[in-house]
Amino acid sequence: MKVSALETISLLLAPVLVSGSPSQNVTQVSIDLLDANHILHLLEVVDAYGHISVRNPDNESQFIMSFAIAPASATSQTLVTYDISNATPLHLTFNESVVGEDIPPSFSERFIHSQIYAAQPNVTSVIHSHTIEVLPFAAVGVGLRAQIGSAGSIGTLTNGTPIFDFNSVVPDDSDQLHDLFIRNPVLGDALSRTFEDGSDIVLMKGLSSYLECFE
Ligand SMILES: *[C@@H]1O[C@H](CO)[C@@H](O)[C@H](O)[C@H]1NC(C)=O
Ligand SMILES: *[C@@H]1O[C@H](CO)[C@@H](O)[C@H](O)[C@H]1NC(C)=O
Ligand SMILES: *[C@@H]1O[C@H](CO)[C@@H](O)[C@H](O)[C@H]1NC(C)=O
Ligand SMILES: *[C@@H]1O[C@H](CO)[C@@H](O)[C@H](O)[C@H]1NC(C)=O
Repeated sequence: MKVSALETISLLLAPVLVSGSPSQNVTQVSIDLLDANHILHLLEVVDAYGHISVRNPDNESQFIMSFAIAPASATSQTLVTYDISNATPLHLTFNESVVGEDIPPSFSERFIHSQIYAAQPNVTSVIHSHTIEVLPFAAVGVGLRAQIGSAGSIGTLTNGTPIFDFNSVVPDDSDQLHDLFIRNPVLGDALSRTFEDGSDIVLMKGLSSYLECFE
């Protein structure tokens, strides 16, 4: 079910107005982040599984992302502040007294976000989506190339956007969950190294995923 624009606004504003302890910067990026969650849902870029995050404007060593909930349902009360160094949930962004096991479960793929922020200090936002339409491109090894000016972030690299294949990463002891899902720093680091100058996007082979970073 889609959330109407009016519902989106009320979902967003009601909790922001009652809490209010975070800084103005954090409040502003949280509003943008929630708008982004709802717009990406309305445009069907993310379904139940995609996620978007932002770097904490007050602390470059942290990022903000919803706990594991469909983007359409994200509100200020579902936002969590994470430590970039280990993707640990620190506290609810709008209630710092909610910590540890009181924070609802996080997306297992949050290492996509933490490792990209760690590797690329100038990246302020990361989107990860399971986009069926781009699945065949990664499967046959054809990267995307911008065909119109407004698609500039796709880039115009000769071989198209880079393609990440978890099978190309040599597993190590800290990488026990070595599969399509980026659930540990080893795979997250390998993915973050796949980005190339000239393209803010990486296709992920086999996961129908598509990533974009904003600087
Ligand atoms: C923050 O969370 C605590 C613990 O759940 C709760 O008692 C308190 O009312 C919350 N504060 C706000 C402003 O929501
Ligand atoms: C809030 O954002 C402004 C503009 O980006 C920045 O100059 C300022 O340092 C930020 N405040 C904090 C506390 O980080
Ligand atoms: C910034 O975030 C890091 C990682 O969570 C933390 O160790 C550090 O204390 C924070 N800095 C400030 C000034 O809060
Ligand atoms: C952002 O940082 C990465 C890694 O340090 C670098 O390769 C890239 O050129 C930078 N992009 C911009 C626009 O500065």
